[in-house]
Amino acid sequence: METAQLRYNWTDADIYEAFMGRWSEYLAGPFLARADLAPGARVLDLACGTGVLSKALAEAGAQVVGVDASEGYLEGARLRRPHPHVSYEQGDARHLRFDDNAFDAAVSTLALDVIPEVEQVVAEMKRVTRPGGVVASAVTQFFGGMPAFDLVYNTGAVLESAAARMRSARAGRTQFWPGGQAALWRKLGLAEVTEIPVVVDCEYRSFQDYWVTFTDGPGSVTAMLMGLSSGARAAIEQHVRAGYLVGLPDGPRSFPMIFRVVRGLVPA
Ligand SMILES: C[S@@+](CC[C@H](N)C(=O)[O-])C[C@H]1O[C@@H](n2cnc3c(N)ncnc32)[C@H](O)[C@@H]1O
Repeated sequence: METAQLRYNWTDADIYEAFMGRWSEYLAGPFLARADLAPGARVLDLACGTGVLSKALAEAGAQVVGVDASEGYLEGARLRRPHPHVSYEQGDARHLRFDDNAFDAAVSTLALDVIPEVEQVVAEMKRVTRPGGVVASAVTQFFGGMPAFDLVYNTGAVLESAAARMRSARAGRTQFWPGGQAALWRKLGLAEVTEIPVVVDCEYRSFQDYWVTFTDGPGSVTAMLMGLSSGARAAIEQHVRAGYLVGLPDGPRSFPMIFRVVRGLVPA
């Protein structure tokens, strides 16, 4: 069996928390409200990362298994988000060790977009969920749903072809446009499928707090920015800073972030 390829060196839980963990924190509550799971449900949190959703699920009364490919992130989860009703374990979302129908629900946040074999992963989520159980996911809306990123991509694209290519590669992922996940849910035979946008405020304390998530983060945008010359990067930073400040003193800014939450039932 092949091993999961962890892209962009996703091993350091602290770096993850500063970059994307903040979105997971904002998303967990609205996601759980939409997922609508029964109290006491046995829930698989697939690609659980540093455990934000797993802990929120447990606090809402679920019995949770959080599975992730990154031992570094799991270590972070065990340290930061332990809970008597959560167990964290390493595993590959494409080949789960669990029996058919082992869970009342399988859920995942911010993960389907990072695993190339999306269909295989959702099929696994369905397989391990009992008939009548819930399969739900949330990912960012890749076109139009990430203004905090668009400021960097759109500015960078004017100045550097690498940024323009990355903008097209990301925003052009139609599977994560509105209705994309729902179409996959239906294709795989899930029933009563709904997909809705959830908007959350993504807060930054200052321009520095915002900019370091791009230059020091675990993602492909960091790889792209750090692959540029320091002069090219400084030019992008200067224009992005102007877009962040909009002529006002430095300080907190809030960007809306749109997540697409899909939910379906395993046919009884
Ligand atoms: C953006 S993070 C999301 C983490 C978490 N769900 C959250 O909302 O914060 C994506 C996660 O997918 C995990 N991952 C990537 N490929 C995987 C695979 N094949 N199997 C399990 N986890 C995987 C990564 O290790 C990472 O923790």
